[in-house]
Amino acid sequence: MTTKGRPVIRSGCFITVEGIDGAGKSSQVDALAAWLREQGHEVVLTREPGGTPLAESLRALFLERDMDALTEALLVFAARRDHLCRLIEPALARGATVLCDRFTDATFAYQGGGRGFDLDVLSMLEGWVQQGRQPDLTLWFDLPADEAARRRAAARPADRLERETLAFFDQVRQGYARRCAGAPGRFARIDADQPRERVWADVQNAVANCAAFTGAVNVSGAAALSPVPPRA
Ligand code: TMP
Repeated sequence: MTTKGRPVIRSGCFITVEGIDGAGKSSQVDALAAWLREQGHEVVLTREPGGTPLAESLRALFLERDMDALTEALLVFAARRDHLCRLIEPALARGATVLCDRFTDATFAYQGGGRGFDLDVLSMLEGWVQQGRQPDLTLWFDLPADEAARRRAAARPADRLERETLAFFDQVRQGYARRCAGAPGRFARIDADQPRERVWADVQNAVANCAAFTGAVNVSGAAALSPVPPRA
């Protein structure tokens, strides 16, 4: 396709979803994917660490094995590189919407905030791995660490990260807050400590107000189709 002889480079929208474990993002992300598909968007729903066979193998190691913070950071960035090269960039290039459950903000929050790992090293790895790629919109589901712990305890057996202390998750939350303050145009903070319907309405509004999406989603029509995300 060309406009006045110039090629039009189609690029899809890259949306990431973040928050401490137990914040309720996963059921909302499934609902968001369904909502966007109902409106005719091609949606690639993926996650980190993971999203490709290699990155899923690294995810299993990451979630099960004990390791230091640098090893954690290197593993998630190695998985991210493969994910970007094989799945995310090709999908964006053909105009798809990529909806990713966690991305690099999680590394700054968990390894940087939670583990206290050097943020400059993380920034360097971010630059190498992403070559400037950043999400168009990041939905940050913000919830106090004690409420998130209550929800996790009721939901599922804990993995290696989920067994961390309340203080750890409080530091992770502060890590997200710092990333949000550093990129306010990209982040939409969603108050996850409210009824599910209200959270869902905030998600829809954040997507509808995203510059990369303006005019491409219909909040009122879609709300009639799927008012509340399915229970996790
Ligand atoms: P989840 O996908 O079920 O939320 O689990 C992924 C876990 O990995 C979660 O506890 C957050 C953690 N994580 C990091 O510590 N650093 C990262 O860069 C990413 C993407 C996830």
